[in-house]
Amino acid sequence: MKVVRGIADLHLGTAEIGLVPTMGALHAGHRSLFRAARAENDVVVASLFVNPVQFDEPSDLAAYPRDEMRDAAIAEEEGVDVLFAPGPDELYPPDFATWIDVEAVGAEGAARPGHFRGVATVCVKLFNIVRPRRAYFGQKDAQQSAVLRRVVRDLNLPLEIRVMPTVRDADGLALSSRNVRLTADEREQALGLPRALQAAAGADDPVAAARAGLNGLHPEYIEVVDLGVATVLAAAVRVGTTRLIDNVLLEGDLS
Ligand code: PAF
Repeated sequence: MKVVRGIADLHLGTAEIGLVPTMGALHAGHRSLFRAARAENDVVVASLFVNPVQFDEPSDLAAYPRDEMRDAAIAEEEGVDVLFAPGPDELYPPDFATWIDVEAVGAEGAARPGHFRGVATVCVKLFNIVRPRRAYFGQKDAQQSAVLRRVVRDLNLPLEIRVMPTVRDADGLALSSRNVRLTADEREQALGLPRALQAAAGADDPVAAARAGLNGLHPEYIEVVDLGVATVLAAAVRVGTTRLIDNVLLEGDLS
């Protein structure tokens, strides 16, 4: 696996490329994206970049886990050919001034002003730099995938957004780089989120059922999100200082 920091050093050629954009702190969810990309493309590129402009809370950016050596070892194990790990100035020169601003960003976007502008901007930059045929994202971030599908459609970008099922720990918690911040007690409380969503998925009023099942956890939102190809019941909660999101499929097929 080649680790590349400069855009000019990428030299990716004309092979069919699968791109897995990541912010590092890789876990089994990322491994499933690498495997899907490996199975469907000639060349697999993973990006490793903690994108400062998508953080709406400076403390969240400061606390974001970073371990490049560990991440590189995981990417290599999963057959990634090129790890693109640029420094912040490579993607955002000091006079950077052009943004991708998606107007329909749903409850997750409303809860995190500017977040999807940062995500959409960095992803369009990565799509232009790497020129993938397919880019891979996890269902856990369903609203992110919906925003990116809209960007690809609205701007006629020549790639497909592939969405892979959420990977969960044995207890049901969706894998997330932020889970490491949970204490043992908080982790126990956090399990209320997947349990409530799962139990509500078949209800006549899934939002009310999820709200009733949250067992003392306060939701930032619970909503049915129409992703075009699928509908999901999505929610965000805060457990201690950690913000967690999750969703379950109600109808359709995200991939
Ligand atoms: O899902 C993530 O880790 C990030 O939002 C992404 C897509 C890598 C953009 O920075």
